[in-house]
This record gives sequence, C-alpha cells and structure tokens, in this order.
Amino acid sequence: MPTVSIERMSLGPAQNFVYLLVPVTPGRLAVVDPAWEPDALLQRAEALGRPITDIVLTHHHQDHTNAVAALLARHPARVHVQRTEQPFLRGQPWQLDLVCHKPDDTLELGGDAKVQLLHTPGHTPGSQCLLVGNDLLTGDTLFVDGCGRCDLPGGDPRQLFESLQALVRRLPGTTRILPGHNYGPAPESILADQRRTNPYLEALTIDEFVTYRMRLRPEAVPLA
Ligand SMILES: [Fe+2]
Repeated sequence: MPTVSIERMSLGPAQNFVYLLVPVTPGRLAVVDPAWEPDALLQRAEALGRPITDIVLTHHHQDHTNAVAALLARHPARVHVQRTEQPFLRGQPWQLDLVCHKPDDTLELGGDAKVQLLHTPGHTPGSQCLLVGNDLLTGDTLFVDGCGRCDLPGGDPRQLFESLQALVRRLPGTTRILPGHNYGPAPESILADQRRTNPYLEALTIDEFVTYRMRLRPEAVPLA
C-alpha cells in the first residue's frame, strides 16, 4: 500500500512535469519543481485541503523553480535541495528557506511517507532524483528515451554517465521513471524498458557517452 500518492501536472511552455507528493497521512503536501503556473498549483493544494509544507527541487534551473516564490508567498514551506546545488541559488529571494541535503538523505513527510534523495550530478552539480517507493522522479537527469544536457554551467557529462549507471545498478527494472519534462514518446516509463530504448543507457563507454551527449544539437531545448 503506497504511503504517498503522486500527482503529475503538465505546466508551462517547456513541457515541464510538476509533481505533487500527497502522503496518505494528512497534513503535509510536497511540490516537486514548482514552475510556470503557480495559481494552478495553489488551486490544486486548496482542492486537496492541504498546506504546501515542502518544496523539493531536482535542480536550480529556472524552468523548474520559477514558481517557488509565488508558492512561498502563500505557504511557509521548506525548500529542499542537495547542498552542492546551493551556490546556484544565491540571489534567490527564498535562499534563506533552503534545507540543504547530503546524498541519500531521507525526507520524511509524516506517517510512513518517506522520500529518498539520490544525488545524481551531471546535468548540474547538485541534481537529485527522488525515490518514492517504486517511483523515481528524475528531473532533468533522465528523460523517457533521453537525458539532460551537460553543456550548461556546472554540467559534466562524465558525472552524468556515472549517475545514470549508478541508477541502473542500484534500482530494480520495475522502477517507474517520472521525468521532469515530457520529451519522450510517453510521459513515463520503467527502468527496464529504458535500458532497451534509451540511447544514453546503452552499454556505451564513458568516452562514447561524452561524445554522444556533447554532440551539436541544433534542436537543443533551453535548460534541459
Ligand atoms: Fe535543467
């Protein structure tokens, strides 16, 4: 029996997925990567009858964070990030609300509801994936049949290779992949299927991965 239900909202011009983590035990509500349409998120929280108590950021890019301030204006939530992402958030009006985590920290959302914060650097130094039961919220680390770019400030394709390989080693094939953008042929997948269809999870060497990831892509999508 899941202790947290996950709601997915497709918001904004960049096909972002914003997720709500709704623990079975009442009183808490977490929003992952709030962006683009704060009113829609606030209305959904109101419909659920819960305050937004926690905001979890997979990374600092503005297409995943540009609704944080609007949510904090209405709800005094904690904002959870990996500590290595903190330098990129200096200057944000909400930088004092940050809770900086170390790799593998567990975020408790009341009752038995737990979220494990997996540090997956590469897209940015403090990128993290959120493991909620059998579900993995992957931000811009892993997309359905894709992965995040590594040519933006702080990006490192060698780190992303290691992060993706670690996810494959560590998690069962049944793990449901819930990405931060709807860039693939479906909004979600499972890890075993991704190992077959995602070109970034094929048995590339690290050097092959780096060359492929850093190839010129005229169609490149900003920040993802
Ligand atoms: Fe990003």
